[in-house]
Amino acid sequence: MSTEDKIRYLSEEIKRLKKERRAVILSHVYQRPEVQEIADFVGDSLGLSQQAAKTDAEVIVFCGVHFMAESAAILSPDKIVLLPEIKAGCPMADMVTVEALQEKKKEIPGVIVVCYVNTSAAVKAESDVCCTSANAVKIVSSLPEDRPVLFIPDENLGQYVARRTGRRIHLWEGYCNTHDKLFAEDVLAAREAHPNALVLVHPECRPEVIDLADAVASTTGMIRFARESDAREFIVCTETGILHQFRKQCPDKEFYLASDKLICPNMKATTLEKVHRALVTLEPRVTVPPEIREKALRSLERMLAVT
Ligand code: 13P
Ligand code: SF4
Repeated sequence: MSTEDKIRYLSEEIKRLKKERRAVILSHVYQRPEVQEIADFVGDSLGLSQQAAKTDAEVIVFCGVHFMAESAAILSPDKIVLLPEIKAGCPMADMVTVEALQEKKKEIPGVIVVCYVNTSAAVKAESDVCCTSANAVKIVSSLPEDRPVLFIPDENLGQYVARRTGRRIHLWEGYCNTHDKLFAEDVLAAREAHPNALVLVHPECRPEVIDLADAVASTTGMIRFARESDAREFIVCTETGILHQFRKQCPDKEFYLASDKLICPNMKATTLEKVHRALVTLEPRVTVPPEIREKALRSLERMLAVT
């Protein structure tokens, strides 16, 4: 069977099984194009959480990484949540542990902990409010000004939020291995090659890359910006999977990845074969223990109430 035939066959089987299982398939924009194509909803971390919270499906197949499936399990505890590749984690999420966070909280009396959604359920349970790259500025702006704020674990996003809100924020030394590989030189070279292009930057990028941006936004925010902009060309400073949505949603515009280093291996670990297998076996499942779920839910619900 050719690769195209295999993709066609698996996609049809997945669509059939999805109905049989009363399942919904959610995909992050960093997933492989063929995985995005079989999804009922493709979006950023915020959009995916909102979909997970409101779906009436019995099974959620999460094409993304572990913390995203955990958030779905927290928001929809009565559903079966499947993560087709159970080892698909997020290295940034692993850069903060409950123990380290508890220690840090002791050092800053009265601190409000804002946790990026890229954290484990247990860390969310130890935090006050969650955020994504789409709403981090709004969430921090909504906090009382007389209380110190600790932002975990993404230092670049935390620094960006501090600049945008004018607040002094305690930062954590976490970072995304994928966005961290992008340097200002890469963006400057791309700009030289495409002088008419606007630069779209994800706030997980280094500050010197953010400084070169025409727009800083979450993945969905970048796509919206490109759709609404009069510009015809864009340099994209985030994971390569997003190009599929850019080209689908803006077929008359050109998109150039700022560097071919922008690949997240964890996001690419989910394949159609694994989605198919997950729907057949209803495994691997992601669950969250009730005592952690209850506290983590508070952080997620506070975020969803502000957005
Ligand atoms: P958003 O899609 O929310 O912008 O997040 C990017 C990301 O790195 C998710 O892991
Ligand atoms: Fe984690 Fe970065 Fe991959 Fe997103 S792109 S899952 S933040 S490593």
